[in-house]
Amino acid sequence: MTEHNDISSLKTVEWKDNKVVMIDQTKLPNQLIFVEYDDFNQVADAIRTLVVRGAPAIGVSGAFGLALAALQSKGTTKDELISDLEKAKQILFETRPTAVNLAWGLEKIMNTAKSGDSPQQIKELVVSEAKKMADEDIEINKTMGKNGSILFDDNDTIMTHCNAGALATVAYGTALGVIRATKESGKNVKVIATETRPIQQGSRLTAFELKHDGFDVSLIPDTAVGYSMANGLVNKVVVGADRIVKTGHVFNKIGTYQVATMAKQHGIPFYVAAPLSTIDMKSKAEDVIIEMRKGSEVTGIGDKKTAPDDINVINPAFDMTPPELISGIITEKGVAQPPYEESIAKLFESGNS
Ligand code: MRU
Repeated sequence: MTEHNDISSLKTVEWKDNKVVMIDQTKLPNQLIFVEYDDFNQVADAIRTLVVRGAPAIGVSGAFGLALAALQSKGTTKDELISDLEKAKQILFETRPTAVNLAWGLEKIMNTAKSGDSPQQIKELVVSEAKKMADEDIEINKTMGKNGSILFDDNDTIMTHCNAGALATVAYGTALGVIRATKESGKNVKVIATETRPIQQGSRLTAFELKHDGFDVSLIPDTAVGYSMANGLVNKVVVGADRIVKTGHVFNKIGTYQVATMAKQHGIPFYVAAPLSTIDMKSKAEDVIIEMRKGSEVTGIGDKKTAPDDINVINPAFDMTPPELISGIITEKGVAQPPYEESIAKLFESGNS
């Protein structure tokens, strides 16, 4: 474990010397600490305990985890190695159920593994594919950022919820990538970040990374979304996504639905930014599993208890925003607009995937 003070030009998750290196996001914003793993079980724990979080970041972490599993395998034939990888894949897959990027990352690595012949060749192929996925994540975010930036104007104040920033991806971010690209295009924008209870990705991560990068960012409690919109403090909203189904239903951090509903009430455009790897063309909205997390995240803040003992808690980590509340879905292939069933399918058409 290493402690760093310099936080410029960092990657949230990286492959280095046959190890996976990540920022421990549970320690932010107070400490910037990197952790190193050489066992896929450690990567699974890191995803489960939110050392790494955010859909694209856990997609790449899953891929790196599986690459570690390949290096760990003692299999001497292709079949033995693939069997070890299937077991590791299952452990990694079961860590978090909602973000589809995890399954996407694991599937990509499994397909690569199956294309190899010898265990040695498979090991080389999967490490190189996982590293490629990490590099591509940054490029995709930058393209998505440019595509989205045209939707934002000079002097806009943009609200965002949770953290869909550099810390939720390998670098640059999805929703915050759009905000970064808007600023890079010469427009002056301000940001309002919601705190995002219960585990405060907004205050701990979004406020941290935007402030560090020199943005004009104001933090609000989640309960001030309506106030901010009713009092003209916000022009537009952009958030990330954990899963988007082909009908345009968006699954994202709990509270997103409230923000979108409030934006509709006030005629404020509500955008979602996500890569194609977040779009699940197979599942129906009603089949998506919403992760339920432990009650202690709600009965306390950090170590401080803020609720009575033995209180019942309902703690869903995500909610679903229906397509009628969404003004556009920003991707690396362009901006999908309603009706989403048509525009999302077009994003995947040949020549555009
Ligand atoms: O529970 P988390 O922190 O993994 O949830 C993250 C989110 O909901 C993000 O908004 C989403 O993954 C998009 S990240 C680019």
